[in-house]
Formats: sequence, structure tokens, C-alpha cells
Amino acid sequence: MRTVTVGVLGSGTVGQDVLNLIQRRQSVFTDLGVRIEIAGVLVRDVTRVRSIPPGTRVTDTCDFLQECNVVVECMGGIDRPLEILRPYLRSGRPVITANKALLAERWDELRPYAQDGRLYYEASVMAGTPVIGPMSTVLRASTFTRLQAILNGTCNFVLGQMEAGKDYAQALAEAQALGYAEDPPTLDVGGFDTAHKLAVLARFSADGDFPYSAVQIQGIEGVTPEDIEDARGHGERIKLVAELEKDGHGWKATVAPRRLPNDHPLCTAGASRNALVYEGEECGTLIFAGGGAGGMVTASAMVGDLLDYLLGFPGHVPLH
Ligand code: NAP
Ligand code: HSE
Repeated sequence: MRTVTVGVLGSGTVGQDVLNLIQRRQSVFTDLGVRIEIAGVLVRDVTRVRSIPPGTRVTDTCDFLQECNVVVECMGGIDRPLEILRPYLRSGRPVITANKALLAERWDELRPYAQDGRLYYEASVMAGTPVIGPMSTVLRASTFTRLQAILNGTCNFVLGQMEAGKDYAQALAEAQALGYAEDPPTLDVGGFDTAHKLAVLARFSADGDFPYSAVQIQGIEGVTPEDIEDARGHGERIKLVAELEKDGHGWKATVAPRRLPNDHPLCTAGASRNALVYEGEECGTLIFAGGGAGGMVTASAMVGDLLDYLLGFPGHVPLH
């Protein structure tokens, strides 16, 4: 049995469930001949009560990183996690992350590590619903033409609750209580989180250098109950839709609220679920749908990435 030392950055909605899932699925690691040792868990407030396996070392310093074989980043933010991870990445060790804001906005620095197969980030888009895996592997054989997706659980939940008659502020507070929303939730409702995710996806399908700044962004703050009623009267629903398609010799990436017919695959996926319609010349039209926010569904992808790493699979390599 070999010991693999894991460091975890953050123990909030996602980090707690990563720790719980690693413990729950111990038999899978044992089958691989691996014993997972958690070297430490970085948090801000060490006095906060956490629902994690007893005896886990929780700390507000990063000293444990030196002894880690792999780091799982679920703290969020951009500059602070990068500052912590920079020396660690430079030392050639792998990182598993759910942080689409970091990936989208600091790609110039992170891309070489991703190309070397040392960044694992399935959880960063659609949480536990695998899309980055297929897009970074088998789907590359097809000529990509277009994608349309719902990539934000908070907005999907808020719009669904508004359809049921709740007001916007109440619905957003509920999404926050469920652990779906970013900190701050403007990232969700302003469309920025969806744009971060679209930029990440574009690097597997359109251009390995696709810049976040190229995404045109409009959020759901301007959607009114009257808009929702009007759409309903026409057999339609309002969804925050991410789209990526050919535009002359380049690509057009947009995030905006759209009216879609009730029977559109992005509408039939389910209330708080994410969905993605992927179109390629050879593979045809594919539909992915499932949980896109929440602790355990996100942890399932991160622990899946950890298993891939242990099995010797590379991380998610963008287009060259
Ligand atoms: P969260 O509940 O706010 O947890 C963040 C954790 O990181 C907390 O434990 C916090 O410590 C710690 N932390 C934050 N800043 C820190 C700092 N400067 N120094 C030390 N510790 C720090 O966030 P979350 O919902 O788990 O999300 C984490 C990441 O996963 C984000 O990148 C998010 O975009 C991504 N993600 C989230 C979901 C979801 O559904 N929630 C799904 C997919 C991806 P304290 O506990 O002491 O405050
Ligand atoms: N805030 C994000 C959402 C979390 O609502 O989809 C998952 O990335």
C-alpha cells in the first residue's frame, strides 16, 4: 500500500464534501493500493464548526503544502489561491480545482501547467456532470460547430422560483442557503460565473487560448416577473444561456437571458440542473444534463479527478 498525501484548500460547501467523500470511498482507494493521508486543510476561521471527518488537521497556514503529492483547491477567489498555488505548481506537482474564475481569468499563467497535464478541473464546469472529460478527449475527433448551455445553478434556480411566483431577492437568498451561489452572488446573477465556465469550455472546442474577455456578458438582474409571464404565455421559458458558435473566421461567445420553447433540451433538463447541447459535424448533437452546483455533486467530480491522477491519467489538456 502506498501513501498519497493530499492537501485541501478550503473547507466550505465543496471542501467539506471532498473530505467526506474521500473517507466514504476509502475502499476505492484501497483497491488501487493507495492510502490517502490528508496533510492539512486551509481555512480562514479555524474556530468554525465543520462537518468533516474527525481528527482532520484544519489550519490557517499553508505549511502543509510542502509535504503534499497533490493539492485540491476549493477555496475560491483568484489572486489568493494563485499566490498559494504558484510555487507548488512550479515544483511540478498536480492541482485539482473547481475554481472556474481562476482558470478563466489567469489562463496565461495556468495554461502551460494544463498543457503538461498537471491541472485537473472537471468540477469547474457543471460540477459533477462530466463535460470537460469528454470535450478534452473523445469529442476532439469531431469538428466542433456550436454549443448552447445552462451553466449556472443559481440563476437556473432563481428563474425557476420566479416562475413559481417567488420574488427575485427571496429566490436568490434560497440559492445562497443551498450553497449554490458564489461569494459574492453578483458573479452568478451578473452572468460572470457562466462566462468563466464558457471560456473554460471554449479552450477545448474553439481555441486553446480563448480569452475570458472575449465573452459578451449579460446577467439576469433585469429579468422581471412580467417578462417571465409573457414568455409563459408564448409557451416559452427564460434561461440564462451560454452560446459559442462560429463567427466568420473566429468564434462568438455570449451569455444572456434567452426565451426558449418549453420543449427545448435546455428547458427539459430539470429545475436546478445544468444542461449542455454540444454540436459537432461527426458526433452529431449530444446532450449533457445533471447537477451543476452543490457540495457533494461537485466533490464527486473532484474526487473523480483524484482517482484519475492516481490511475496515471493526465489532467485536462486544452487545444494546442
Ligand atoms: P465556500 O463555501 O465559501 O468555501 C470556501 C472555503 O475556502 C472556506 O472554508 C473558507 O474558509 C476558505 N477560504 C476562502 N478564502 C480563504 C483564504 N483567503 N484563506 C484561507 N481559506 C480561505 O465556497 P464553495 O461554495 O465551497 O466554493 C469553493 C470553490 O468551488 C469556488 O471556486 C467555487 O466557484 C467552486 N465551486 C462551487 C460550487 C458550489 O456549488 N458551491 C460548485 C462548483 C464549483 P472559512 O470556512 O474559514 O471561511
Ligand atoms: N455558483 C455556481 C452555480 C456554483 O450556481 O452554478 C457551481 O459552479
